[in-house]
Amino acid sequence: MTHLTPAQAAERILKLREEINHQRYLVHVLDQSDLSEAALDSLKHELSQIEQEYPELITADSPSQRVAGTPLPGFVKVEHQSRMLSLNDVFTFEELADWEKRIVGLVGEETLRQSGYYAEIKLDGFAISLIYQDGALVQAATRGDGFVGEDVTQNARTIESIPLTLKVMGESSYVQQALRGRFEVRGEVYIAKRDFEALNAAQREAGLPEFANPRNLGAGSMRQLDAKLTAARKLSFFAYAVVGEFGQLQHSEEHELARALGLPVEPNSKHCKTIAEVEVFMAQWEEARKELPYGTDGAVVNVEDRELFSQLGVVGKAPRGAVAFKFPAEQGITIVRDIELRAGRTGAITPTAVMDPVRLAGSTVSRATLHNADEITRKDVRIGDTVVVQKAGDIIPEVVRVIESLRPEGAVPFVYPEELDGVPVIRREGEAAHYLATPTRDVLKRQIEHFASRGAMDIDGLGEQVAAKLVDAHLVHDVADIYGLTLENVLGIEGYAEISARNLIAAIENSKARPFTRLLIGLGVRHIGVETANTLALALGERLGAQGVVGSAALVQIMPVLREMRDEDFAALPDIGPIVAASLSSWVQDGDDQQIVDELISFGMQAPLKIQEVGEGVLGGKTFVLTGTLATLGREEAGEMIRAAGGKISTSVSKETDYVVAGEKAGSKLTKAEQLGVAVIGEEELKALLGQ
Ligand code: IVH
Repeated sequence: MTHLTPAQAAERILKLREEINHQRYLVHVLDQSDLSEAALDSLKHELSQIEQEYPELITADSPSQRVAGTPLPGFVKVEHQSRMLSLNDVFTFEELADWEKRIVGLVGEETLRQSGYYAEIKLDGFAISLIYQDGALVQAATRGDGFVGEDVTQNARTIESIPLTLKVMGESSYVQQALRGRFEVRGEVYIAKRDFEALNAAQREAGLPEFANPRNLGAGSMRQLDAKLTAARKLSFFAYAVVGEFGQLQHSEEHELARALGLPVEPNSKHCKTIAEVEVFMAQWEEARKELPYGTDGAVVNVEDRELFSQLGVVGKAPRGAVAFKFPAEQGITIVRDIELRAGRTGAITPTAVMDPVRLAGSTVSRATLHNADEITRKDVRIGDTVVVQKAGDIIPEVVRVIESLRPEGAVPFVYPEELDGVPVIRREGEAAHYLATPTRDVLKRQIEHFASRGAMDIDGLGEQVAAKLVDAHLVHDVADIYGLTLENVLGIEGYAEISARNLIAAIENSKARPFTRLLIGLGVRHIGVETANTLALALGERLGAQGVVGSAALVQIMPVLREMRDEDFAALPDIGPIVAASLSSWVQDGDDQQIVDELISFGMQAPLKIQEVGEGVLGGKTFVLTGTLATLGREEAGEMIRAAGGKISTSVSKETDYVVAGEKAGSKLTKAEQLGVAVIGEEELKALLGQ
């Protein structure tokens, strides 16, 4: 966030508190929320950051100062024997190191070194306290405000992973002791990923709205007055702490004790000698958590020595001796400063929100896509708005929604301009995107860059900057002009000397031998990607073969065959739908587009196509599906090798699939292959099949 003046801070604090309180009410009282937990976290984080900067603005009723949760009137209230605390969050390793520094300042380095830490997977669920009397479950309570919670014993009884009676799984005296008298254990109620998906599938089938996230569903299910509803939700439980003294000296021994009594305990906790080891634990789980059957939002880092832990005491609502180290949020909150429109190489205009930098999934983001005009209108995104942004995996960050309560006065709806860079903006019937009526020089630069890129004609040395210079120098007006460039032309461009100019000319010359599919991709025919280009090449090969062409055909032979094809011919090809077919047929009939192809031919473009009889080659007629990351081969490379040997590549696994080539992190396709009994091979076996 940008730096705020005291007046701006006061105003922002008020708005943030209002929104956080509203969200708390939605989540804790009504069991519903329209904001993800990560997004709410980042609102709270922003609030406490501003409050830290301006401590005079902190008030007792600020959401940063209390643990919320108004008990529902229908439940009996229970007072906790000892307060149920919460944890402070840290989001970065620096913040974690600061936490350690504060502890070192209080107890000294040596004491802390002897204790070390116990790092646990933090379950993304709902805290609960269970009380056993002489080994029998007698009470389950929610956290409530930490002092007083709600009695949810009936509901807890429906959860199979909560034992109704404790067992003795060990001999040690403290286990025996726990079975006599009162024993309290605390832990987390959660919904496993699979159960959550099953519940949502049932909702869909019943035509009901889906649940937004397992955490809220878990919390809501736990606080049902009718225990039958709780039972229907398939909740699970993990214990993480034991209240009272049973001779346990280390926090990890609380886990052991709970386990020894037959309580479920999350199995991946780890003793870490140093904070650096905690960092490694965190880094490993950031990736590995995707494979866990339950959701986690971070790690809980505890000072391992219990004596030291209690010595450290409590500040506000949280113990000093433990902290929640959160995984990078995939959702965050920031402010839109501008909405920028930019035309891509197809002339399609993409609106982008330019925002205050925000950390999302481990990187800092300051731009997010708004997709198109309809999306801007639907979400009503305005300059000045506070928005929820999201990034999942490698996907481009996007604006999810606006928090309207934080909208500044005077913010006006965004109006799409009628022209961009002096060129009229048009919208074709039935399309979401707006287009430039004629390509601008910027668009042309992007077309050239794409044409020369590695996935297309792979012209070494012709990147973004050179493309821009060629266009600006009026040497290139379309992609065919690239092949008309002379050494003198290139030498005339700033930054080129004899050798570099010769290299560029040679690279351009070499690219004439790139396969036909690469040319097709480079020309940027709409909706045509690698798969379609290959399908089309195969079909053209067959047609050319039928005309008696053997070995390989050049562009000058290919084009007449292609230009004879119409909508229905394209649509008859495997995996080509009506949109792609229409795009191809309009391209072969477009005068301007075809003139460029003719120019390419006259410049000597070869773009060869291998004529192959169907079934020819060692993998003749076999269908492959590639999934996961292969050890040495890129996916495209593996695909090209398979095709070169006469095999086919498909994107989905079915009974017709001959082989699934699975690499690291293969997911659902591998599972499907196993279910269908399709042969699964690795990279080495693929190479063996190819005779390599
Ligand atoms: S220890 C002193 N350990 O996270 C508070 N908490 O953000 C005791 N949680 O209220 C917390 N997994 O509901 C602890 N392994 C774990 C946990 C865990 C999930 C929850 C718990 C707590 C919240 C704090």
